[in-house]
Amino acid sequence: MKKITLPLLFLVLLAAACKKEGPVAVQEESADVLETRMLERAFHPLDYDYSTVLPNYLRATGLQPVSIDNAVAALGRVLFYDKSLSRDGSMACASCHDQKRAFADAKGFSLGASGQRIERQSLPLGNTASFAAHYRSLNAHGAPSLFWDGRTTSADEVARMAITSPREMNMTLSEVVERIRTKDYYRALWRKAFGHPEPKESEMLQALSEFVRAIGSTRSPFDIAMEMNAGDPHSKASEDTVRTIYCGRDTTIVVITPPAGFSVSEFRGLRLFGRHCSSCHSAIRPFQEVFEACNGLSMEYKDQGKGKVTGNPKDNGVFKSVSLRNVARTAPYMHDGRFKTLGEVIDFYSTGIQPHPNLHPLLRNAAGGPRHFNFSPQDKRDLVDFLEMLTDDQLITDARFSSPFKQ
Ligand code: HEC
Ligand code: HEC
Repeated sequence: MKKITLPLLFLVLLAAACKKEGPVAVQEESADVLETRMLERAFHPLDYDYSTVLPNYLRATGLQPVSIDNAVAALGRVLFYDKSLSRDGSMACASCHDQKRAFADAKGFSLGASGQRIERQSLPLGNTASFAAHYRSLNAHGAPSLFWDGRTTSADEVARMAITSPREMNMTLSEVVERIRTKDYYRALWRKAFGHPEPKESEMLQALSEFVRAIGSTRSPFDIAMEMNAGDPHSKASEDTVRTIYCGRDTTIVVITPPAGFSVSEFRGLRLFGRHCSSCHSAIRPFQEVFEACNGLSMEYKDQGKGKVTGNPKDNGVFKSVSLRNVARTAPYMHDGRFKTLGEVIDFYSTGIQPHPNLHPLLRNAAGGPRHFNFSPQDKRDLVDFLEMLTDDQLITDARFSSPFKQ
């Protein structure tokens, strides 16, 4: 009986609705329905809340969540995965920023649409352009410096450069707009995002950067452990608690029982990290002090990093001191991808730092020479264990950041 009555009921309701609203409303509604169907045919679900939930322990340090426009981010997500943004249709942003690799690239020097190599390793995305306060930064706006050499702070600008660079997607913005405006689904997505169906260059860049801004990574085992220990945002002691757990610099204490969520080795690794690394690579950005440095990879840099941008010899060998969130997923390492494993990176800091004239003071010993941390095999294991705690597996599988295209 039920099987018959339910559809009947719908029909009756539908008829009632038609009567009330009149024929025009029905037409509008069906245009909407058609559009929704078209989007559903082309894409996996697009309607999400794209913003990042900030864990309480990060709120306690004064961080504010960023607000994201969901329709604009959804459009940006489609653009990010669309290969027609590149000249030969072979390459999307996602080709070099792979979700499985925390939006970095495994290829060492990334390969562009023209087959030319970019001379740098792709950078992971995740808390990249958002959390202005997260990136208490060198520039006046508090916006993060982007690229290995920090040459811009605007994510729109990065997207423009990626599309137009001959070594990346090798297109012009107007050509891209010409291509995408012929697709009905873009006209629909544009209307949802910007209230009109005509793709514009500036809006395309805005949408791409809104999507990049939306990619937040705050759910690693490290975050969960911190939350367990210092999660109460109402307690006055919160920021202190976070600071004490995270920055406790006394490595002479023998750790017998680590705080909840940490293994003994991970907690020893955190201690070492807090003492030797976190000034430049804090996993809690408000605690980071140094945002760019020469870390003494070589005496002679082939790529001078910031020096190439400013022409100032004091900036030679200076690169962004990157976030280490998801670092276990983003091999190979350094701007030129020279190290294949985290073990090799730790070996470098242990005994390999070179006495480059611009070597950062934190990596020098009392006599001004390069500091050699001489980590024991146990220290190395502990450090790697800690770094692996920064892997946010939810980011890697989050449907909101995956390819929306059904094929
Ligand atoms: C051919 C590979 C390639 C493609 C395609 C590509 N990127 Fe990148 N991306 C890179 C490389 C390499 C870097 C680092 C470049 C540098 O520092 O000079 C980078 C850096 C970035 C950064 C800066 C991250 C940071 O932390 O500073 C952002 C944001 C970014 N890309 C977004 C995009 C977007 C959006 C697109 C698509 C419009 C895109 N990329 C397409 C390789 C690529
Ligand atoms: C003075 C600041 C400074 C200190 C201290 C420092 N680093 Fe770095 N680190 C950098 C810079 C700058 C880079 C990028 C260098 C480049 O690519 O030329 C880097 C790169 C890295 C990378 C590669 C990241 C990637 O995505 O390619 C890892 C891993 C790393 N450091 C780990 C550590 C560890 C572990 C310690 C402590 C033992 C440490 N760093 C101490 C400044 C620092």
